[in-house]
Amino acid sequence: MTSVVRELVQPILEIESLGVRYGGVVAVDSLNIVIRPGTLVGLIGPNGAGKTSCVDALSGLTRSTGSIRLNGSPIARLSPHRRTRHGLVRTFQSMELFEDLSVFENVLVAAESSRTTKSVARPRERAMAILESVGLQDSAQRSPSTLSNGQRKLMGVARGLASQPQVMLLDEPASGLDVHESRDFGRFLRARVDAGLSALLIEHDMGLVFDICDYIYVLEFGKLIAEGTPTEVRSNRKVIAAYLGEDNYFDSNKDAPSDGAGVETDRP
Ligand SMILES: Nc1ncnc2c1ncn2[C@@H]1O[C@H](COP(=O)(O)OP(=O)(O)OP(=O)(O)O)[C@@H](O)[C@H]1O
Ligand SMILES: [Mg+2]
Repeated sequence: MTSVVRELVQPILEIESLGVRYGGVVAVDSLNIVIRPGTLVGLIGPNGAGKTSCVDALSGLTRSTGSIRLNGSPIARLSPHRRTRHGLVRTFQSMELFEDLSVFENVLVAAESSRTTKSVARPRERAMAILESVGLQDSAQRSPSTLSNGQRKLMGVARGLASQPQVMLLDEPASGLDVHESRDFGRFLRARVDAGLSALLIEHDMGLVFDICDYIYVLEFGKLIAEGTPTEVRSNRKVIAAYLGEDNYFDSNKDAPSDGAGVETDRP
């Protein structure tokens, strides 16, 4: 999507002046994020930057200030459950699965609770098709406790997709995956977005984020320090400075930093 077209399309999710505090800690400070339909938006930043707090606020799991609009309607006062019903669905950084249900049943619960009529397939068929799409069909009858961390993450994504989200919030879905699994997952997610899903992707694997996202926001100490296309953001001085010293610093970025690229946000 070009920037001109981007500006013309009504956002599916619009976050304005989002704030999250834990006692004296300001975890998210005056954050503005826009997600347009059918786009994949990255949210990156060093450890403790406030990414999970942002998703917790969007999904209603933590108290926040500011405005959150889904398809133009305010949702900040809705319960987490009602936000999910409206199509705002999240995955968790540390997987929260039903351990006493099988992998298939975990996904089926989400498929059955989805009331939308977008899909004509029955919940059982839909659940199995989604498990196949993330490569977990052979593990369908196993207990989640027998899966690797990476597989558990994929199962969480499958469960999220089964509830037919309008916007999916993915908190580090690729952590625990090896390089090949991570790239496969990236291709899979990109294909879902190309088929109409809108998503916010939080991820420390910079190669993945820069490869597949349409637009990226960068947080540091709760504040937005930059936003732009992957090309703009990867050469942004503030972003590079925020990541210096991190082991996984821009794995695939071989370019030298440039001076004015990217849109820096100088919020007070
Ligand atoms: N429940 C909580 N109570 C108090 N402080 C918290 C709580 N959760 C997070 N914080 C603090 O808020 C800040 C933001 O944390 P958050 O988990 O949102 O960061 P993050 O960007 O998701 O980090 P990571 O990349 O490590 O997952 C940190 O300073 C963290 O210590
Ligand atoms: Mg986090």
